Amino acid sequence: MNSTIESNDIVIRRAKPQDSSQVYNLMIELAVFLKCDREMTLSSEHQSTIVGYSLYFHIYNFLEGFGISMENLYVSKSHRGMGIGKMLWQEVTRIGLELGSTGILIIVDNWNKASKDWYTRRGCVDLTETKEYHYLTLGRKEMEAFVNDA
Ligand SMILES: CC(C)(COP(=O)(O)OP(=O)(O)OC[C@H]1O[C@@H](n2cnc3c(N)ncnc32)[C@H](O)[C@@H]1OP(=O)(O)O)[C@@H](O)C(=O)NCCC(=O)NCCS
Repeated sequence: MNSTIESNDIVIRRAKPQDSSQVYNLMIELAVFLKCDREMTLSSEHQSTIVGYSLYFHIYNFLEGFGISMENLYVSKSHRGMGIGKMLWQEVTRIGLELGSTGILIIVDNWNKASKDWYTRRGCVDLTETKEYHYLTLGRKEMEAFVNDA
């Protein structure tokens, strides 16, 4: 826990349009952290500064039904270890439960062991290990080629 900041100073709230530039800056920080410098959002605020966010959206899985995909969860380095990441994730979870979600899908890079452990310590199961699931995607170029495939 960061000793200089009180956790009851932290506000978890729905993101507003006027947050977009601060959230965007955090997205850039996350992209740099994930080494890929290339909806809906929750943000966490500390003394009027956005210090963390989560980006999530609704998904539908034909086996399990309605769920939530938490695409991003990011807390600025200066504010880590204060429980903000947990509060953001808990709020996404609360929204998911209210909407009848059967689960939350989270994708973590293989090298990001600290975050993977952080999630599994709180009950997440690695479907790649337990069910040998692989995450497949069809890129834009391949999509264009595919729709034109006779
Ligand atoms: C993963 C992440 C969102 C967690 O956010 P956070 O606000 O630091 O999380 P919390 O404060 O709720 O929990 C941090 C954990 O690290 C410990 N910790 C203590 N001091 C810490 C510090 N200075 N920095 C980081 N973690 C610290 C806490 O005790 C806690 O441990 P626990 O799992 O035993 O409870 C944040 O580390 C992050 O943004 N990482 C980079 C992006 C990332 O990997 N995102 C997830 C994949 S998309």
